[in-house]
Amino acid sequence: MPRPRAVAWCQPRRFKRAANVIANGATERLDRAVGWLPSIGATIHFEISQQPKAVPALDDDYGYRLRIDDAVGVHIEAHTEWGCLAALATLCQLAGAEALAVRQITDGPRFPWRGLMIDTVRHFISPATLKNTLDAMWFYKLNVLHLHLTDDQGFRFRSRRYPELASDEAYSGDELAALVAYAADRGIRVVPELDVPGHTAWWVAKRSDWGLPGSATLPSTRFGIHQDCLNVANPDVCTAVDALLEELAEIFPDEFLHFGGDEATSIEDELQATFHRRVVDTTSRLGKRAIGWDECLHPALPKGTAIQAWRGMAARDVALEAGFDCVVSAPYYLDLFFPADVHYAFSPDGDSAAAEEAMLRHPRLAHVRSGLAWMARFATFPDLPPAPDGGSGRVLGGEACLWTELVDDQTLATRIWSRMPALAERFWSDADASSQDLLERLAASRRLLAERGIVAEDSNASEEFPSLTPLLEMLEPVKWYRRLLGSAEFERRVNGIGGSAEDRPYNATTPLRRIVDRLAPESLASRRAEADLAAGAPMQKWIAGWRQQRIALAEYPALLEELGDASAALAEIAAIAAGESNADASPLAGPFGEYLLPIAYAVASRR
Ligand code: ACM
Repeated sequence: MPRPRAVAWCQPRRFKRAANVIANGATERLDRAVGWLPSIGATIHFEISQQPKAVPALDDDYGYRLRIDDAVGVHIEAHTEWGCLAALATLCQLAGAEALAVRQITDGPRFPWRGLMIDTVRHFISPATLKNTLDAMWFYKLNVLHLHLTDDQGFRFRSRRYPELASDEAYSGDELAALVAYAADRGIRVVPELDVPGHTAWWVAKRSDWGLPGSATLPSTRFGIHQDCLNVANPDVCTAVDALLEELAEIFPDEFLHFGGDEATSIEDELQATFHRRVVDTTSRLGKRAIGWDECLHPALPKGTAIQAWRGMAARDVALEAGFDCVVSAPYYLDLFFPADVHYAFSPDGDSAAAEEAMLRHPRLAHVRSGLAWMARFATFPDLPPAPDGGSGRVLGGEACLWTELVDDQTLATRIWSRMPALAERFWSDADASSQDLLERLAASRRLLAERGIVAEDSNASEEFPSLTPLLEMLEPVKWYRRLLGSAEFERRVNGIGGSAEDRPYNATTPLRRIVDRLAPESLASRRAEADLAAGAPMQKWIAGWRQQRIALAEYPALLEELGDASAALAEIAAIAAGESNADASPLAGPFGEYLLPIAYAVASRR
């Protein structure tokens, strides 16, 4: 994964050389990359037609041709080092018996922007974890890491000019520069985001002179939209934003600078549009191109600004029609705990109606259907003049987003890599890449990522509670914003009743060390059991485990309150699956607190 464009197979063969790979014609960067591959016992030859560059750019060519030949070993041809790095990622995935049965692969990406955004604010993500993320991004041919650096709860960039803004845990300029170099070695661009004028409660708590009158004076640990906002009518604020953008432009060589622009609820629209225009002008003066979340769409926004569409696919369509280039994120929010097939059904440039329909019908999302329907209605867009040349903007690609209210440094990898390989394929491979065998390939790829020593396998806490494995491996966290909002605010949002933001169960100081925090958003074991059921395979082993966990839970009284209901439900599911009960299994899917038992849907639909 991602599936290559064209593969020519041949009879399996073995190379004679027992030693590690040797690179011919490699640049220093490629020499380093060859070191990440397992031994394939062959010589690798590189042929690059363009002069290597320090860092990748949006429209650089990532295509490659890989030939495996008995006589010369592996031959990689590409225009750029980035293409060679993509070929090496393919080789790293193929190494093993299969590599020797490939004669030639011709490959290249469908979209130039294949991104992952990480919110480094709600929880701090260490430079080591970001580097590990970049390793895995290379493995899947992803090429943009977007760092969300500032928000209401913190400021993760240690500015030289405004050191008072930095959180205790923040990246120094040197750390960020090292990250940029590490990313470039993997063919990956890094785009920084300074989110203004909203999402700035932290700024105005540190600099009360920059906020609107009545702004917060204490840093916030609360999640959700804040009223605090920069006072953009204050010239000092504009000077500071310019200076911060300038510092970021010095550290990040990428063409794009992200200025946020989302969810600024307490500033008047025209004032915000004027401020965005100013930020875009500053960005141009720095020799860069601005990108903002889709709230910045406005007739006054300069057309060269790129739009990151997040409030539904409608945002993409409005932006394109008005001539703005677009990075599509709306269907790719990894923090919603959705299964991979929901995301995979959306193409960055495709018609989204069928995928939206499938999402609303998806059994795993049944318990949040009212929330999804609410979400589909909440964005409004201004009337925009059509693109001047009668044309349209361009879909640059897709970017998955991981907001980290419920993710920390230790759980980040499980949240990303459980589903991201499917999105990497959506962004790289041809439009018709089918989802038919998606789950099997995703599971195999996830194991390979661990075998290659890049990201350890997901744990779901089974190593700590081995006798509970039959339960733990069937559990999934509840979906959409149900954990984040808590049940009271979930009801208020979608039904307009009860609850308030203060009822939310989590804030930035809540420990994320419970079992639900360690679960993969999509249980691949549950998917295996579902497939066995559908295939009419013997279920005795599954059923025995589902019964046995009920007894095993008694050994862990501390877990009874949290897992007791799900455990009892799984034992009932076992009885139904064994034909001992005729009850309807659907209600046994839950939710039980923050847990879901999706196997119940499969058992119910079989009977
Ligand atoms: C966003 O999710 N507020 C861009």
